[in-house]
Amino acid sequence: MTQTLTITRPDDWHLHLRDGAMLNAVLPETARHFGRAIIMPNLVPPVVTGAQAAAYRDRILAALPSGMSFDPLMVLYLTENTDPEDVAAAHASGLVTSVKLYPAGATTNSASGVQDFDKVRPVLDKMAEIGMPLCVHGEVTDPEIDIFDREAVFIDRVLDPIRRTTPGLRVVMEHITTKDGVDYVKSNPADLGATITTHHLIINRNHILVGGIKPHYYCLPVAKREEHRLALRAAATSGDARFFLGTDSAPHVDAAKESGCGCAGCFTATNTMPLLAHVFEEDGALDKLDAFASKNGPAFYRLPENPGTLTLTKQAEPVAFPKKITSGDGPVTVFDPGFPVYWTAQG
Ligand code: DOR
Ligand code: ZN
Repeated sequence: MTQTLTITRPDDWHLHLRDGAMLNAVLPETARHFGRAIIMPNLVPPVVTGAQAAAYRDRILAALPSGMSFDPLMVLYLTENTDPEDVAAAHASGLVTSVKLYPAGATTNSASGVQDFDKVRPVLDKMAEIGMPLCVHGEVTDPEIDIFDREAVFIDRVLDPIRRTTPGLRVVMEHITTKDGVDYVKSNPADLGATITTHHLIINRNHILVGGIKPHYYCLPVAKREEHRLALRAAATSGDARFFLGTDSAPHVDAAKESGCGCAGCFTATNTMPLLAHVFEEDGALDKLDAFASKNGPAFYRLPENPGTLTLTKQAEPVAFPKKITSGDGPVTVFDPGFPVYWTAQG
């Protein structure tokens, strides 16, 4: 018997589209199902100014196949030299939705990130004043801190102090991976939200490391213990308005993943919505998928919900998703959840 679920057209509140040949290859994978996405600015060089964001937005729209509709929500990469007035002007014009804080060295292309958080205080004060959200990569980079503890330590040492010194700053903790992250969001008022990726609802650290190393499951923040995955599942499927979907779909060509020093990132744009239907069904929470993927994000970002819908259909046989997509730079492996999935999605 076929089962269907129709939800509001979803958004992706954390997405890597890259540029050039890779942008051309991955953009349709997202635009097929999603109305909008928060576009990560960690290009080389990063998207730092309003002018750079406008140029990148034009390149994204030029890469959109005709007949598809998609609204890229642009983000500025916060550096110690970011000008508060440039940020405010780019926000007021509607060009830029948020600013992204990467601690220097935390992840792919984050070398220009913030080392001294006092230096960005004027920008954060301005953002609090105008109600502009700050997206945060929540990991410390101190080499002495174990990689599995970096999110929890970031909350104590960086995020909580920033929120105390900049009251009213609206913060999205991006791609939370721990129970600590879930608890921190829950214990705070509605000016704090969090995105959760599809893959962190599915894998724990054993999936990366047991039975041979699986480079396509390696991302940052790295997947943690099972108890953390379960806390993320409970948060995502609860309907709590502070938690919403940000896939962090992050394409790297296979040669860069399957390497002696493999890049971080899981490419989930192609099958994210079917995988989420599977996860939410497994937890008896299909009725909460609309909140997580389509309603909570716009509410936090103070944007209207998308017009249009997405219909998810459960079929009798497992769905054969493509194993790879082709880009001009080389093949990109699509995230494989490791179990059969029976759901498809049609916009
Ligand atoms: O896994 C990740 N990949 N995490 C990030 O924070 C960056 C991203 C990328 O750009 O590849
Ligand atoms: Zn990311």
